[in-house]
Amino acid sequence: MPGDDGYFDERVAERYDEGEPEMFDPAVVDPAVDFLVELAGEGRALELGIGTGRIALPLAQRGVPVHGIELSKAMVARLRAKPGGEDIGVTIGDFATTTVDGTFSVVYLVFNTIMNLTTQAAQVACFRNVAAHLEPGGRFVIEVGVPGLQLLPPGETIRAFHVSETRWGFDEYDVANQGLTSHHFVTVDGRLERHSVPFRYAWPSELDLMAELAAMRLRERWSGWKREPFTSDSDKHVSVWEKAAV
Ligand SMILES: C[S@@+](CC[C@H](N)C(=O)[O-])C[C@H]1O[C@@H](n2cnc3c(N)ncnc32)[C@H](O)[C@@H]1O
Repeated sequence: MPGDDGYFDERVAERYDEGEPEMFDPAVVDPAVDFLVELAGEGRALELGIGTGRIALPLAQRGVPVHGIELSKAMVARLRAKPGGEDIGVTIGDFATTTVDGTFSVVYLVFNTIMNLTTQAAQVACFRNVAAHLEPGGRFVIEVGVPGLQLLPPGETIRAFHVSETRWGFDEYDVANQGLTSHHFVTVDGRLERHSVPFRYAWPSELDLMAELAAMRLRERWSGWKREPFTSDSDKHVSVWEKAAV
């Protein structure tokens, strides 16, 4: 069972940046930052699950004031150790319910992190919490995978998502409960370590309904940060909901 830091504890935090280096590639990070800079305008940005600052640090370097909410003190310690990391305010807590002072022009939740909330009630609470932090006309951005059920043959529950010489990843589906556990196996100093994280997946339309419940409306949906079209073949989406301007 996870401790106070949740599933991103010291053991995970110490290897987070090296674990999936492709996610730190400027080719991946820069389009997300460009997208968020545009939505932030002259306002502030709030990142839910800020982690080690993969997106927050370059966004702040582009002149956008960024605040974060994060459960894991171990992840925040890595953010703090990076250049500029001390200048980003972080509130420790659960982003479904934790509040911070002030309002924001954009709140964002990237890299599948909405799925870390493993109940529908918690995901709905998160949308409501976001709406409470947005200024009128403000935007909520989510980057998350489309549930990979089309890739799951009938009767199967396991699908590999990464296989390499040193790292293996398998998603285990619990379709009846919209549950998904990602099992990560990695070799460290010749030993195999396992780390499993539970998720709740949701179709884009369910997220739209959560937005409606929080008085937000879908404004944009793309399959990537460069505004690539979202189609039946897309394996992820970048969605933007807007809080009504009063
Ligand atoms: C996949 S990492 C993403 C980190 C960062 N946003 C990035 O893009 O690299 C998910 C992060 O969300 C945090 N997290 C997960 N569930 C959370 C919750 N309910 N409240 C606050 N933080 C949470 C984890 O501790 C972790 O740092």
